[in-house]
Amino acid sequence: MKIAIGNDHGGTDLKWEIKKYLEAKGYEIVNLGTDTKESCDYPVYAKKVADAVIAKEVDCGILICGTGVGISIAANKIKGIRAAVCSDTATARLVKQHNNANILAFGGRIVGVELAKDICDAYLEAEFEGNRHNRRIAMIHELENE
Ligand code: RB5
Repeated sequence: MKIAIGNDHGGTDLKWEIKKYLEAKGYEIVNLGTDTKESCDYPVYAKKVADAVIAKEVDCGILICGTGVGISIAANKIKGIRAAVCSDTATARLVKQHNNANILAFGGRIVGVELAKDICDAYLEAEFEGNRHNRRIAMIHELENE
């Protein structure tokens, strides 16, 4: 599985940890985030990852900023993106099972390294359940045309 990872300065440290962790598990990671801790603007990196997901250059994306919120709000402005901020493993599993989230986000200043790894595992190992959730996801994307 190929995953794009993006981050601002609030997510740089955690990005390296997650990249190393997921690569060791055999995932291919495309790093589209900033590599420094110099202040930068998270919408830039949200767009890079969202564009890669929409273009199907990757299977899904991971975004990290200080809280995970700003970068996910920005990603959700891109048509077709369903980015979900998760701070626990149950939510991470459910955003795949029910929402088929195509981007997982979390906060580098909110979750610790071990919890972030577990959140990634829960999201990446879960499967979309389809059925009634397809209808609801279609309704979400209809909102993009209003
Ligand atoms: C940057 O200081 C911080 O605002 C950003 O990383 C993020 O938390 C925004 O939602």
